[in-house]
Amino acid sequence: MSAVKSIAVLTSGGDSQGMNAAVRAVVRSALYNGLEVYAVQRGYQGLINDDIRQMDLRSVGDIIQRGGTILQTARCKEFLTEEGQQLGADNLRKRGIDGLVVIGGDGSYKGASKLSKLGIKTMGLPGTIDNDIPFTDFTIGFDTAVSIVVDAINKLRDTMTSHERSSIVEVMGRHCGEIALYAGLASGAETILVPEIPFNIAEVATRMKDNFAHGKRHSIILVSEGVCSGEQIATQITECNGIEPRVTVLGHIQRGGAPTHNDRILASRLGDFAVRRLIEGDSSKACGVLKGELVATDIHQVVSTQRPFNMEMYELALRLSQ
Ligand code: ADP
Ligand code: F6P
Repeated sequence: MSAVKSIAVLTSGGDSQGMNAAVRAVVRSALYNGLEVYAVQRGYQGLINDDIRQMDLRSVGDIIQRGGTILQTARCKEFLTEEGQQLGADNLRKRGIDGLVVIGGDGSYKGASKLSKLGIKTMGLPGTIDNDIPFTDFTIGFDTAVSIVVDAINKLRDTMTSHERSSIVEVMGRHCGEIALYAGLASGAETILVPEIPFNIAEVATRMKDNFAHGKRHSIILVSEGVCSGEQIATQITECNGIEPRVTVLGHIQRGGAPTHNDRILASRLGDFAVRRLIEGDSSKACGVLKGELVATDIHQVVSTQRPFNMEMYELALRLSQ
C-alpha cells in the first residue's frame, strides 16, 4: 500500500548536468510503482502558474544524456512570499497530487521545506554544480562541472608552458569552494583560492615568482568566484611581483554539456530513492549519498546547516603542488 498515489517533479534554481537524468528516474520509478506522475514547468514559477502536465514513460525518453533540464528552471521571487507558497500548494492539491520531488540547490530546498510545512509531502534532490549542500558527498552536476574545469586547464597548460606564463582561472561555486578545490587538485594547480580559507596575496605572488625561478614553466591559480574575481587577483599579483597573469573566466560553460556517467548514476539512484521513500510514507527529506549509501536527512536540518569544508583535501592539494 503506497502512502502517495500521485506525485510531481520540478527543477529549480541554477540548472545542472544530470537534472534530466534525475527527472527521468523520478518519472520512471513512479510509473513502475503504479503512481501517477506530473511535471511542473519552470520550477516554483510553474507551481504558481499551474503549469503542470502528466508524464508517461515516453515523456522522459532520450534525455539521460542531455545537459540542462527539459522541465526548464527559474528563480521565482513570488515563491518567497507566503501567498506564493500557498498558491503553489493549492495548485498541487486541486489535482490530487500529494507528493513533490524538488531537484535544485539550497534555495530550492528552502522552498521545499516551506511546502512541506504546508502539508505537501516533499523530497529534495541535490541538483547544483556547486556541491554546497550538506549531508551528501556530492550534488548532481558537480562531477561534470569539475570535469569541464579540468579539461579547460589541460588546454591552458599547453599555451602557458609555451610562453612560461601564469594563468588565473575563475570558477563558479557561489559561496562554496568545492569546484575550485576538486578541479585544483585534479589539475595540479599551484594555488587554490576558496572563500572558506583566508590567504595572503603577497605570499601567493612570492611563491609564483620562486616557482618560476626554480624551473616551473607555468603557474595556475584557481580562484573560486566566492573569493573575488580573477581579474582582481591578477591585478594584486602584478602589484606584488610584476608578473602579468592571463585570466580565464569559465562562467556558464561549467553548467552545460552532457553529464558524466557519475552524475547520471547519482541522479538515477537519488531519483528512484526519493520516489521509494515517498511510497513508504517518508517526507520532508533531502536525499543524498554518504560514503556510497543513499541517505534521507530532515530537509529543515539541511537548509539550516553549512556544508563543512574538506580541509583534508585542501591540505593534500597544497602538499602536492610544490
Ligand atoms: P538554487 O536552488 O540553485 O540554490 P536559488 O537560491 O535561486 O537557486 O533558489 C531557487 C528558488 O527557490 C528561488 O528563486 C525561490 O523561488 C525559491 N526559494 C529560495 N529561497 C527560498 C525561501 N527562503 N523560501 C521559499 N522559497 C525560496
Ligand atoms: O548555483 C549555480 C551557479 O552557477 C553558481 O555557481 C553561480 O554563482 C550562480 O549559479 C550563477 O547564477 P546565474 O545562472 O543566475 O548567473
